[in-house]
Parts: sequence; C-alpha cells; structure tokens
Amino acid sequence: MDFAPFDKRNYPVLSVEEGYGEWAASYEATVLELMDVRLLQRLRSVAWSDVVRAADLACGTGRIGAWLKSKGVRAVDGIDITAPMLAQARARSVYGTLKQGDLAASGFESGAYDLVAENLAQEHLPSLAPLYNEAARLLRPGGRFVTVGFHPFFLMQGIPTHFDRASGGSATIRSYVHLMSDHVRSATAAGLALTEMEEGLIDDAWVAHKPKWEAWRHRPVSFALVWSKSVSTK
Ligand SMILES: C[S@@+](CC[C@H](N)C(=O)[O-])C[C@H]1O[C@@H](n2cnc3c(N)ncnc32)[C@H](O)[C@@H]1O
Repeated sequence: MDFAPFDKRNYPVLSVEEGYGEWAASYEATVLELMDVRLLQRLRSVAWSDVVRAADLACGTGRIGAWLKSKGVRAVDGIDITAPMLAQARARSVYGTLKQGDLAASGFESGAYDLVAENLAQEHLPSLAPLYNEAARLLRPGGRFVTVGFHPFFLMQGIPTHFDRASGGSATIRSYVHLMSDHVRSATAAGLALTEMEEGLIDDAWVAHKPKWEAWRHRPVSFALVWSKSVSTK
C-alpha cells in the first residue's frame, strides 16, 4: 500500500531515480550500519564464506557488495537503477558484472547464484512479487535470498526514507508499506521458504546517533529475512 496516508513529515516526494540521484553524494555519510549490517551479522543460516557467486539487487553505492566480499563471498554481481549510486559501486571495484536497470529484470543468469541479496530497496517497490520472483529465478536450488528492509511498523509511524538536500530542506523518495504477510505471500508464490528472521529495535546505539529517536525506543526499525530455494524447485 502507498505510504502517503501514514506520512507525518510531508516532505517533497521524489521518484527513485531523482531521489537517489540527489542523495548519492551524501548517502554513504548518512546511512547507518545499525540499520542493516548489525542484522546481517546476527544471521546464523548463511555461511557467507561458502558463497561462490552472489547477486546484489539494488546495490546502490556498493556497501553491501563490499561487506559480502569482506565476509569471504568470492564474486558479486550488482544492479541498480540510479546512475550516480552505481558510479560509486563501480569505483569500489568489488563487483564482477555491474548493470544499470530494474532489479526485477536483472538479466543475470538463471539458477546460477548461491546467494541473492537485496538491501533497503523494498519500500520503494510498489509490489514485492517481482523482487521475489527475480530472486527465486537467480538462485540455484538450495540457495539463499537475504533481504533487509525498513520495518513496516516504523514506516507506519509516519517516518519515510528521507535525506537532507544540498539545496536545503529534506526530501523523501516514493515509498510503499509492505506487511510481513506480503513478504510471505510473494516469497511462497515464488517457491521460497522462510529460514530465518531478525528484527532491529531502536536502542541506546540508535539514540546515541539520533537523540530525537528516543521517542521510538523499543520500536522495530528494520528486519532481515533469509529465504531458501528448495532443492526440489526448478
Ligand atoms: C537505500 S538505497 C540501498 C542501496 C544499497 N543496497 C545499500 O544497502 O546501501 C536504495 C537503492 O535502491 C535502488 N532502487 C530502488 N528501486 C529500484 C529498482 N526497481 N531497481 C533497481 N534499483 C532500485 C535505488 O536506486 C537505491 O540505490
């Protein structure tokens, strides 16, 4: 569902390419690893160093590609729709193939990946089905799809993904709220089974970075899901 009815900030709303095109210059300085890397580090069902080939959907500036390589993943391909984000990923030199395009139509090889990652892009997708279908298409049987998202509970408090504009003021990027049941429905239809889930809460570490978020203490702000492709699915 559209984020608009929940919006309490009423910042100007930009498209994905406009928004991340503008945010790209300051993105790395603003995104906090508390949101995603802290959850990835908690996962127990992914043997990162056994992964030979991974695909990073919506790879952005390449943060997660770099993190995967640091955990022993041998090769990572990436795709993102926003050219200025992708330019930073290219400069990192951690990816094999790197493409500009829609994550739902990556054109990467079917059944060839041990791991598919998608980090912090789901809230910009009108529907989750194309993401899960693409992840399932890319995975080899037994492969894992790891996805980290901005928590729907947090979005429903009225706080969207937003950034400070170089020109002054803040802007947000068009967002959608996907319930956890939407994830389960789309993943199950794509032939993926839930293997692990983690949720990140607003705690001391968050409040140290964002004192105003004391008001959201104990609320879940992000989640990580690990899905597995059955060894008997195509
Ligand atoms: C918050 S950034 C996350 C980037 C990276 N995964 C990370 O964790 O740092 C969201 C990214 O999703 C990309 N994106 C959003 N919708 C997309 C789509 N349909 N296809 C490809 N990329 C998309 C944006 O261009 C942006 O780079």
